[in-house]
Amino acid sequence: MSPLVAPSALAADFGNLQRDIEMINQSDSDWLHIDIMDGVFVPNISYGPAIVKEMGKYSTKPLDVHLMIIDPDRYIPTFREVGAENISVHIEACNHLHRTLQFIKDTGAKAGVALNPHTSVSQLENVLEMADIFLIMSVNPGFGGQKFIYQTLEKVRKLKEMIIVKNSSALIEVDGGVGLQNAEALVHAGVDILVAGSSVFKAENPAEVVKRMKSIETNTFVG
Ligand code: DX5
Ligand code: ZN
Repeated sequence: MSPLVAPSALAADFGNLQRDIEMINQSDSDWLHIDIMDGVFVPNISYGPAIVKEMGKYSTKPLDVHLMIIDPDRYIPTFREVGAENISVHIEACNHLHRTLQFIKDTGAKAGVALNPHTSVSQLENVLEMADIFLIMSVNPGFGGQKFIYQTLEKVRKLKEMIIVKNSSALIEVDGGVGLQNAEALVHAGVDILVAGSSVFKAENPAEVVKRMKSIETNTFVG
């Protein structure tokens, strides 16, 4: 089995979005990861639903939308309408995470919970069977091209164990500073989905990077 690979459009050339999305379409990528930043939850602003709708017109890969915004409930139906297949909200931005996850599921999208680097996976105990995806941030969210926080590996191992014990089908996604230098260690720790921004888009041969990530064997994981 191979991991899923989700290139992050934040590292694309915004002046040539269509071209870059079509390049991802041609690759072995599984999803297109889309970062929504509001300038409040994170110190950066990216793009909103109108741009996501345009991306969806060109992308043949499912849109994996990562909401780095406060009060995400307000925008969940909008992002679903413009084509999000997966919608992840930050646990740090939700007062009623259980309700928010149900809300996402009711729209027909897959529901994800994102965790900042300082947030312990133990906080996920009560939503282990409810979420479809756990998005573990391996950098402080807000910008592409940052350095991978290596403690993430331990978080992934812990979460994988929790998922197995509960017999949950949730997938673990890791986001930030992911590249060929750490992809294998992450997959062997239990990661199912690799989000990769700079390491794919800034590569000389992006499709080759995706291919090499996809060639990592997942079944060497021994618990
Ligand atoms: C960071 C975003 C990431 C970002 C990853 O806040 O959530 O998805 O695009 O970029 P790289 O892979 O360059 O660290
Ligand atoms: Zn992201």
